[in-house]
Amino acid sequence: ATKFIIDTDPGIDDALAIACAFADPQIEVLALTSVFGNASVTQTTENALRILEVLEQDVPVYPGAHRPLTMPAKDFPAFVHGENGLGNIPQPKAKRQPEPISAAQYIVNAANQYPGEITIVALGPLTNLALAVALDPTVAQKIKRVVSMGGNLHVPGNVSAAAEANIYCDPDSADQVYNAGWPVSVVGLDVTHQVTTTIEYFEQLEKKQPIVGKFLHQITRFYMDFYQDCYQIDGCHIHDSSAIACATHPEWFGMESGQLRVVCDGECKGKLLLHKDAGYIHKFNPWLEKPEVDVAVTVDVKAISNWLDTIF
Ligand code: BDR
Ligand code: CA
Repeated sequence: ATKFIIDTDPGIDDALAIACAFADPQIEVLALTSVFGNASVTQTTENALRILEVLEQDVPVYPGAHRPLTMPAKDFPAFVHGENGLGNIPQPKAKRQPEPISAAQYIVNAANQYPGEITIVALGPLTNLALAVALDPTVAQKIKRVVSMGGNLHVPGNVSAAAEANIYCDPDSADQVYNAGWPVSVVGLDVTHQVTTTIEYFEQLEKKQPIVGKFLHQITRFYMDFYQDCYQIDGCHIHDSSAIACATHPEWFGMESGQLRVVCDGECKGKLLLHKDAGYIHKFNPWLEKPEVDVAVTVDVKAISNWLDTIF
């Protein structure tokens, strides 16, 4: 099994993704690191602990960034994930506490402990990863791969025409993380908008796994209602689970590769720019020095849905 750190802002689809990671025998989850995004970091940290309790897993949770690197902090999207980030379903307080070390420091420590062995799957804004690189730039050489759920290349965004939510929340961090030198796969809306689940999936899950399935079913109703209201579709995109799938089954995804930059301000803030060397840009183009990043553009939808059915 591959060692995973899941950096997350739970978050309804984050909760399913975390459950998938524990259910997939190819994955060994070392820890969760929390970040602001779908709710405040205080709330997402508590939610991470609560999700682990429901899953009966006791890996540590390291609390991360409460705001973007440089941009002013913004309101959280309660209309998507609920005030509590878990679809407004009241939750008992988690029995465990977060660790007394920051997410960024933990990422650096873990990379030193297991050089070359850890995959970081980032399911929220990339602030903790940018802070880890700032603490110790050599961390990028010690991580096996970063899989980032975020962005949109050939399809419109979901917070603006230009941008997807995780990138929009902290574009400066995304630009730094995509250019830090570690192998990066970006799993954005080009593929996550092709993967849809319906309420029937969660009904089945509850039958198979009464406790975990019931929890996921309950919290996902709010998310389904949001999709019905905003997109007029019956079902929802479970963005973050696709990133978990890509981390263990890259063969299910088709990639475009090149230097990847992120627009950090203005009305197109959060837009990804993938530069593929077309030969007509002069050889002193500074972007050519940047590392190549893989961006997922196609996905084997059947394989993902089969995976979702078989891991639980
Ligand atoms: C991403 O934003 C959040 O709302 C989801 O949890 C997912 O990580 C999708 O744009
Ligand atoms: Ca998320």
